[in-house]
Amino acid sequence: MPEPKGIESLFISLSRAAADYGSGVIIGILDTAVDATHPSFNDNGMPPPPPYWKGECDSLHCNNKIIGSKSFNRGRAYNSASADNNGTEHGTHVASISAGVFVEDANVLGSAEGVSVGMAPKAHLAIYQVCSEDECADSDVLAGIDRAIYDEVDLISVSFGSAASRPFYEDSVAIGSYSALRHRILTVAAAGNSGPAKGSVANDAPWILTVGASTTDRRIAVTVKLGDGTELVGESAYQPSSFNSTETLPLVFPDFQNPSGGKGCRNDSFNGVDVSGKIVLCEVGFGVKNIEKGENVKSAGGAAMILLNQVDQGETTLSEAHVLPAAHLSYSARCSMVFYYNSSKSSNSTPTAAIVFNGTRFGTPASPAVASFSSHGPSPNNGGIMKPDTIGPGVNILGAWPSKVGPNHLSITPESNFNFQSGTSVATPHLSGIAALLRSSHPHWSASAIKSAIMTTADTNDGEGNPITDQRDNSSLASRFSTGAGQVNPGKANNPGLVYNLRSHEYKPYLCGLGYTNRQVTMITQHHVNCLRYRRELGPEQLNYPSISVALGPHLMKTVRRWVKNVGEGNATYYAKIEMPRGVKVEAYPARLYFARRYDSRRFQLVLTANSSSLSPGQVAVGQLSWVSPDHIVKSVISITSA
Ligand SMILES: *[C@@H]1O[C@H](CO)[C@@H](O)[C@H](O)[C@H]1NC(C)=O
Ligand SMILES: *[C@@H]1O[C@H](CO)[C@@H](O)[C@H](O)[C@H]1NC(C)=O
Ligand SMILES: *[C@@H]1O[C@H](CO)[C@@H](O)[C@H](O)[C@H]1NC(C)=O
Ligand SMILES: *[C@@H]1O[C@H](CO)[C@@H](O)[C@H](O)[C@H]1NC(C)=O
Ligand SMILES: *[C@@H]1O[C@H](CO)[C@@H](O)[C@H](O)[C@H]1NC(C)=O
Ligand SMILES: *[C@@H]1O[C@H](CO)[C@@H](O)[C@H](O)[C@H]1NC(C)=O
Ligand SMILES: *[C@@H]1O[C@H](CO)[C@@H](O)[C@H](O)[C@H]1NC(C)=O
Repeated sequence: MPEPKGIESLFISLSRAAADYGSGVIIGILDTAVDATHPSFNDNGMPPPPPYWKGECDSLHCNNKIIGSKSFNRGRAYNSASADNNGTEHGTHVASISAGVFVEDANVLGSAEGVSVGMAPKAHLAIYQVCSEDECADSDVLAGIDRAIYDEVDLISVSFGSAASRPFYEDSVAIGSYSALRHRILTVAAAGNSGPAKGSVANDAPWILTVGASTTDRRIAVTVKLGDGTELVGESAYQPSSFNSTETLPLVFPDFQNPSGGKGCRNDSFNGVDVSGKIVLCEVGFGVKNIEKGENVKSAGGAAMILLNQVDQGETTLSEAHVLPAAHLSYSARCSMVFYYNSSKSSNSTPTAAIVFNGTRFGTPASPAVASFSSHGPSPNNGGIMKPDTIGPGVNILGAWPSKVGPNHLSITPESNFNFQSGTSVATPHLSGIAALLRSSHPHWSASAIKSAIMTTADTNDGEGNPITDQRDNSSLASRFSTGAGQVNPGKANNPGLVYNLRSHEYKPYLCGLGYTNRQVTMITQHHVNCLRYRRELGPEQLNYPSISVALGPHLMKTVRRWVKNVGEGNATYYAKIEMPRGVKVEAYPARLYFARRYDSRRFQLVLTANSSSLSPGQVAVGQLSWVSPDHIVKSVISITSA
């Protein structure tokens, strides 16, 4: 959330100003409670809520920034969604990223110092507490979304989801967000943190904007200097100046000595291992949070901790507020570390290292990149529609925090606390805030137009102009099933040229086409649907979706229909530019679209023909359709799954 530097921040700054910072828009946040007393929710200069606002406030802390708060978390002893500091971490952080106001001198234990601000700092927030720290009950989620619709929020932001994707009629976010769409409300929701496993994406209904997580170019850098001179760069938010960075300390790796037990620096990992005064190597994972590992190392007498990624965490490192000097190393760095540790041991010498804190660094190459934890498509549930839809910043994001972090009694910013968090939970409020900017600058756009604008203008290249990479695979090319349309580009989304609109009733034949019974479809649509009424079920590829996902069956040829609306200037001509998926021929009819006036619509068809000899069953080939005019490029990813 702090103003990132460089090109991307320029886009965000421009589009914020163009959209008057989200003024007049209400973002409904479904989450834990929120600490409304945080300076990020100060309402200096905020106008009162719009006259149509019907929400209530069940706490003493509402103002013109947080205009509503209501708790649905009946399982717990919360009586307010914003009054108390207990269990408010997640909601406070998320809400501040979406619409927190400008706060000077934000930092985490002195790192990443600067002005912090949410995506839409003039938007209003309405907090619906439907989660405790560890659970969001379906009944609370449904009640919360219903209330948000009744209250007339403009957008819904959901930073949670079920671990495994469920059929839509059993998924409270899918059901609630469908009702929201009928009221013109776009739901923005997290893709989940179950990556890099394939098919792990959550919140995969096509009427949701599903958000994956990417890195920024900022690192809170720590250099680990090994005894043999090798330097490895990791991260930590806690960088005490009192730590002697020239002192070389012995390394100890408790897990390495006891491969059968004590994995991951649990509180019982150090029995019989002398860690006192040493740098302790800990593996990420094993059900123990990284900060807790540090607490365990510290209480066992360790001088410092080095966190080592396992293969699944890849190159994604976290700058967490540790309680002792620490460095979180990527999987590549871990391999070098283990190589050094092993060779020292086998030559009977003591492995050593020094830890040098190197502060806040910008300009890290290969960013944005997909975070290793960001959930991947394809969705097993939605008929093949590519998810996530887009990616946004979601690693080591600075946001408001209800309490102090780091070692006890450390108090660098006594009055406003911030912390770094990572996850699709923090990518999601970036997108809900950007959607609020679009809602503000284009009040007449539909929910699906906002979503289309974000998707068709997303960046598929990183800051250096190379295709976006995936941190899971040692920074090799990212799959479109992890990036979706690509990295959100707010400046371009504000002026997309064309949009793909999609109305809620068009989803009915699609839901029937998924094989749902009338009753199951009706559970989602909330009024009776008879699937026999539809002459023809609608294949998922025929939804007027801004991306194109097609299963090419035995007949090896399919025609896909779309229509686009011109939201740019009139007298505009667009030409189809097609990057063919491997082994498939794609043709657009017509290949030229002319729009005499703004708001004119045009239909087109894509004819896809497979080359039978080049794709084997289950294989996926990816291409792209772009409608190109002198002023705009309107991109849709094409994915072909061979059936
Ligand atoms: C926070 O809430 C939990 C569970 O409701 C309770 O056990 C704990 O005492 C509370 N802590 C504070 C500081 O109020
Ligand atoms: C830091 O460690 C080095 C090497 O052990 C030592 O020479 C130096 O005096 C130490 N500095 C402080 C301030 O303790
Ligand atoms: C160690 O951790 C376990 C599991 O988190 C906990 O039940 C136990 O009380 C802890 N023991 C100590 C000594 O802190
Ligand atoms: C990652 O890629 C780099 C550069 O290609 C290579 O040097 C390194 O060994 C790789 N790391 C792993 C863990 O595969
Ligand atoms: C600290 O970072 C700067 C800038 O990236 C770099 O030039 C320098 O070598 C780093 N120092 C250490 C000890 O890694
Ligand atoms: C429409 O655009 C074309 C090509 O840019 C231009 O030559 C023509 O003058 C324009 N017509 C009008 C009415 O603006
Ligand atoms: C079809 O695939 C085969 C084998 O990959 C290739 O030799 C041939 O050129 C392809 N034909 C077309 C029309 O793409």
